Amino acid sequence: MNNFELYNPTRLCFGKGQIANLNTLVPADAKVLILFGGGSIKRNGTLDEVTTALGNREISYFDGIEPNPSYETMMNAVKKIKDENITFLLAVGGGSVIDGTKFVAAAAKFDGEPWDILLKMGANINAALPFGTVLTLPATGSEMNSGSVITKKDENAKLFFGNPLVYPLFSILDPTKTYSLPEKQIANGVVDAFIHTIEQYLTYPVNAAVQDRFAEGLLLTLIEQGPRALIEKENYDVRANIMFTATMALNGLIGVGVPQDWSTHMIGHELTALHGIDHAQTLAIILPSVLREKETQKRDKLAQYAERVWGIIEGDNATKAAQAITKTEEFFHTMGIKTQLADYDLGKDDIAQIIKQLAAHGRTTLGEHQDIDLATSERILQRSL
Ligand code: NZQ
Ligand code: ZN
Repeated sequence: MNNFELYNPTRLCFGKGQIANLNTLVPADAKVLILFGGGSIKRNGTLDEVTTALGNREISYFDGIEPNPSYETMMNAVKKIKDENITFLLAVGGGSVIDGTKFVAAAAKFDGEPWDILLKMGANINAALPFGTVLTLPATGSEMNSGSVITKKDENAKLFFGNPLVYPLFSILDPTKTYSLPEKQIANGVVDAFIHTIEQYLTYPVNAAVQDRFAEGLLLTLIEQGPRALIEKENYDVRANIMFTATMALNGLIGVGVPQDWSTHMIGHELTALHGIDHAQTLAIILPSVLREKETQKRDKLAQYAERVWGIIEGDNATKAAQAITKTEEFFHTMGIKTQLADYDLGKDDIAQIIKQLAAHGRTTLGEHQDIDLATSERILQRSL
């Protein structure tokens, strides 16, 4: 196991009725800005519940945060915060609303052009407004981590930043708030959480028994509960298990002390930025090809994954690895998510542009060995045609 430090200050309030806790979680004298997306929280009653829980506090609203939140939209929120002397932010929604809120929390306190936060990946943040979240879509783990992904539309750039100053102070996770999710978003969430786990697990062995067993537990839970969530629309236990799994998949715990491979996410971000494909859909296209391309380097962990997660015990490690990759792909199909570029009307002529964008964003040494260069990414994309 590699050396590590584990720090996560986010308070998690989990379960039915937890939104009422906002009354004690948000400072009594706060001037609150509630940030949200296209209106799902109005339709499912979450916004009313949040507003009631905040009692007499002064509240403003910022809506219209789009999936894959844009710098352009979020800068309007920064202006509002400054104009109205807002002191506390409350993100109510999915990963996009939370990521957007993290960006404005930092941008509102930033000297200079806030896009630099993305260009320096958050290393230049010295302060941020305090914020909490009410999660409505289990997927990204953003509710309990210090990362955020923001898109600059005019450059087709979807970039990441992270800083301990943008951990949410608290996150409220009420599984009943996910009942209104359309099937596609449930599936996206399950697949995103699955792939977050895989990217911290399927590298090479470092004798990190706890991290491995935790990761395998999360994967098994998603395989078991994910398809049920598509059918059993209001099964509280299913939604609760998925919600906690998605949070645990990317709150730092399973990633400590182990090598990580975020190549699927990095290539996937280019597909979203260029072609508007949903985040999780891009991952389902890229991951199986990454695993096949790097099968030799990843074989030991792939065989472990095959045995412990998929129960594949026959054959040598190469056979087990190949079968586990096929099982993974089939799981995405079971969730209703397609896995080829052609499924999204993309073909070999589109690959050059994706490679150009990877180069422009410095994504040239990806993977746990930093050896996924542009030529390797090109082969990965060709495998996904
Ligand atoms: O905008 P509204 O009307 O709220 O509708 C949203 C949106 O259209 C809808 N939705 C959310 N909760 C709902 C609901 N509809 C009905 N009922 C509910 N309870 O779902 C749609 C998608 O929402 P979005 O927030 O975009 O989805 P998700 O949570 O998957 O977030 C995706 C974003 O997070 C980033 C992605 O790149 C992408 O930009 N990620 C952030 C990470 C992080 N901060 O750690 C890690 C991830 O790997 C990921 O990159
Ligand atoms: Zn993701």
